[in-house]
Amino acid sequence: MCEEQTLNVVQEATYLISGGLSGFGLATAEALVKLGCRHLILVSRRGETPDNKASLTLLRETGVEVKALACDISDASTFIPKAQDLLATMPPLKGIIHAAACLKDVLITNMQERDLKVSMAPKIGGAMILDQFSRDYALDFFIVYSSVTTLLGNPGQGNYVASNLAMENLVARRRNQGLPGLALGFGAILDHGMLTRDPKTLKSLQERTGLVPYTAEEALNLAFSLEDPPAYVALFAADFKKLARLPIARQPRFSPLILAQDLQREAQGSFKMRLEKAAPEDRGNLILEELKVVLARILHTSFEQIQVHQPLQAMGLDSLMGVELSLALEDMFSGNIAGGFNAQMTLAELSVRLEQALEQQSGQTDMLDELGRKHGVTVAPLLKEQA
Ligand SMILES: NC(=O)c1ccc[n+]([C@@H]2O[C@H](COP(=O)([O-])OP(=O)(O)OC[C@H]3O[C@@H](n4cnc5c(N)ncnc54)[C@H](OP(=O)(O)O)[C@@H]3O)[C@@H](O)[C@H]2O)c1
Repeated sequence: MCEEQTLNVVQEATYLISGGLSGFGLATAEALVKLGCRHLILVSRRGETPDNKASLTLLRETGVEVKALACDISDASTFIPKAQDLLATMPPLKGIIHAAACLKDVLITNMQERDLKVSMAPKIGGAMILDQFSRDYALDFFIVYSSVTTLLGNPGQGNYVASNLAMENLVARRRNQGLPGLALGFGAILDHGMLTRDPKTLKSLQERTGLVPYTAEEALNLAFSLEDPPAYVALFAADFKKLARLPIARQPRFSPLILAQDLQREAQGSFKMRLEKAAPEDRGNLILEELKVVLARILHTSFEQIQVHQPLQAMGLDSLMGVELSLALEDMFSGNIAGGFNAQMTLAELSVRLEQALEQQSGQTDMLDELGRKHGVTVAPLLKEQA
């Protein structure tokens, strides 16, 4: 049993975990057993499968009653009677953990209603059904597994983020009604669940947001030892130097990260130094190559995939990513050039624009300001500095 346990788990009670038959949900079931749980209902559409059989057998061999309920949590008409049937012969239901999830990553500009439903149905759909269903029971806890992406965003996961945010609101409403409720915004989990099947997204989260993955055990030890938590708790580790680069990190709630931003600016200084040292004829290429690196990071793609003659929008740059690109340009040139591009522009055009601005430097700041005005680019700070 965890020494720091504060989650109220007792032997003569039943605990229900949606999504509890695989991944992080199954790790949660195992963690509850370590905390003393003896009766579990684990729900997933596929139920007991050859993949989870060994884990379930291990739990059962320790004397734990484990019922695998094959059911869609977003279908109240099948879930509720089946769960009630099981509970009729089990100790009273005292806790629910809602971990069911489905991903359908798609950029928001291409998102269809069906993409939203894939993610919304198990998450907020399931949470609403569990909320209603659980009102017949005196619960000690009602926990939903959300994600730190509701704080940080994640391009391509607008549906997932919206579903999680809706669940967080449902939990807040429960708390206002005097009911138990806790939304846990986990960061990346290294050894169980969705990111083990998607190393590309894990890598991109690590690089883009600086998230440092926890093992499921680390995350759950933290989660279950929270003392009197508020309705929402984010549980993540991060390299704040990287995290501070995100536009969203400029919100006041991230102000403790501002210090880390200074470190990040130091790192960005290296591009400025390379630019200053480069021969004038090499500068254009240097800028274009750096822009490709930056855009690849923002678009979650590889450097090789960047088409320099394709409009930014056609490459998938949405408005959130546009803000990121503006900030990256600010960092690259140590000045405010936000708004110096639009989504119809190609990377090659943007590079030429920036290069032209640099060529004009030589103390001709008036001419330069004029050029910047003409192109909607404020490049004077860097160029004046160099003049
Ligand atoms: N893993 C991470 O890094 C991470 C990070 C932050 C937050 N989280 C959150 O933690 C939770 C668990 O994540 P995970 O990584 O274990 O995900 P996962 O590996 O994709 O597992 C999701 C589980 O949900 C079940 N499920 C999906 N749709 C369902 C439905 N309609 N009804 C019933 N069960 C359904 C799946 O089983 P079937 O397909 O058989 O239905 C599966 O067991 C999720 O809520 C996720 O948002 C995970």
